[in-house]
Amino acid sequence: MLVMAQLLDGKALAATIRGEIAARVAGRTQAGKRPPGLAAVLVGNDPASQGYVRSKHKACLENGLHSTVHRLPEETTQSQLLDLIEQLNADATVHGILVQLPLPRHIETDAILRAVTPAKDVDCFHPENVGLLTIGFPRFYPCTPHGVVQLLNRYNVPVAGHEVVVVGRSDIVGKPLSIMLMQKPTAHNPAAGDATVTVAHSRTHDLAAVCRRADILIAAVGQAGMITADMVKPGAAVVDVGTNRVGNAWVGDVAPEVATVAGWLSPVPGGVGPMTITMLLYNTVAAAEQIDG
Ligand code: GUN
Repeated sequence: MLVMAQLLDGKALAATIRGEIAARVAGRTQAGKRPPGLAAVLVGNDPASQGYVRSKHKACLENGLHSTVHRLPEETTQSQLLDLIEQLNADATVHGILVQLPLPRHIETDAILRAVTPAKDVDCFHPENVGLLTIGFPRFYPCTPHGVVQLLNRYNVPVAGHEVVVVGRSDIVGKPLSIMLMQKPTAHNPAAGDATVTVAHSRTHDLAAVCRRADILIAAVGQAGMITADMVKPGAAVVDVGTNRVGNAWVGDVAPEVATVAGWLSPVPGGVGPMTITMLLYNTVAAAEQIDG
């Protein structure tokens, strides 16, 4: 008999956590405080980025947060973008600032991300916040890694002491997620995983053998279907962070037949994606609590 993996249903879990967030937001506004506010900045016309920003804006409004979207033309200069960020840094109605990546090539991404005041850096991309995360005193958790950890925890996937293999070493997912999963949990750092973590990447020798060690396999590469069933230990939890456009469909980094080997599997769409947006709302509320009390 073929047993299929249990679904790590990010859509359902995101709805639950958004309910918790909406209740916290309502409590704040009823107490006379400003609603937590997110300002998203989108430069250029990339269709995927436009879609992400629309989804983030909609999720804010549905849960009682204030949200503004600043759409700038492709030819915006770095200094114009820096001026907007300065304005948002000083705006008391804005608690979180999100600059959608990728930026056009004529703009230095590092310079822009460093201009966002760390207290409003809800993506956790500023070097100060990456440093705080790395030493175990996070101001914010980065959204996608935090979404992955929440998915594992709320579906009771055992993490502490287990073998995790993270495939991909990006600054947005692989690197911060591997740090979070290997850290010791403390009162300051409750999402830490206490796991044994291996980070694999494009230069890893015998990737399949490394992946087969994993009790928890995280695919965060951006290559459609690259994790195949022969790379998965039977019963392992497989989290698919990939969002790849193939024709008109979104597909993950994990091939569909992995569902017949894995013990748990997050789908694409409906897995990590809705969790990322949820943890962005979570960070925006946390920023409002830190800034306004
Ligand atoms: N582009 C792809 N992922 C992300 C993300 O998590 N945050 C931002 N700002 N841009 C992205």
